[in-house]
Amino acid sequence: MRMKSFKSTAWILPQPVLIIGTYDKNGKPNAMNAAWGGQWDMHDIMISLGSHQTTDNLAVNPEFTVAFATAETMVASDYVGIVSGRKTPEKMEKAGWTIEKAPNVNAPLFKEFPMTLECRVKEKMDESETGYYLVAEIVNILCDEKYLAEDGKPDVEKMKLIIFDPVHHTYIQLGDTVGKAFADGKQLV
Ligand SMILES: Cc1cc2nc3c(=O)[nH]c(=O)nc-3n(C[C@H](O)[C@H](O)[C@H](O)COP(=O)(O)O)c2cc1C
Repeated sequence: MRMKSFKSTAWILPQPVLIIGTYDKNGKPNAMNAAWGGQWDMHDIMISLGSHQTTDNLAVNPEFTVAFATAETMVASDYVGIVSGRKTPEKMEKAGWTIEKAPNVNAPLFKEFPMTLECRVKEKMDESETGYYLVAEIVNILCDEKYLAEDGKPDVEKMKLIIFDPVHHTYIQLGDTVGKAFADGKQLV
């Protein structure tokens, strides 16, 4: 077998497509796309953030939402990742999402997304003028009832979630369930 080597880079696979929703000091909603994030602890998430309208907003209002992007929301999800609310005040009108205040945090909820975390900032690690690593508590998880499975829990297969491919800079839709975790491996025990 021949293996090709590549220089060290941010190629963890797969990466999520997280849409972070925040309010500015006047309650104006904003959203940005973030791929560099994941679970930090049982009730906490981590996101690596540069300096954005989003971080300006979190400085005055440390609560936010994290929605998981889908095939249907893909174009606007990419848009909020390439345009800044700092320069484009009409960013959210262009994104076109239906916005409500989230029930448990002071942050916007984008109704087009099947599942959204409501979060509160806990810690900003290695903070500098170029950004920080955000650790935040998951206060609550919202799932549109259309996307619930028979057991009453979120049905990921129904959501048509997308992931970010950092190699080719593409979005890929999640496919089918292929196995049961903590179970299928027992065949080899
Ligand atoms: C696929 C993708 C992934 C991104 N991931 C991150 C990320 O993890 N952290 C970050 O700070 N910016 C990330 N960005 C860039 C921000 O989304 C972008 O700078 C955005 O314009 C910031 O918006 P705002 O200034 O309105 O908050 C990503 C953009 C795209 C398209």
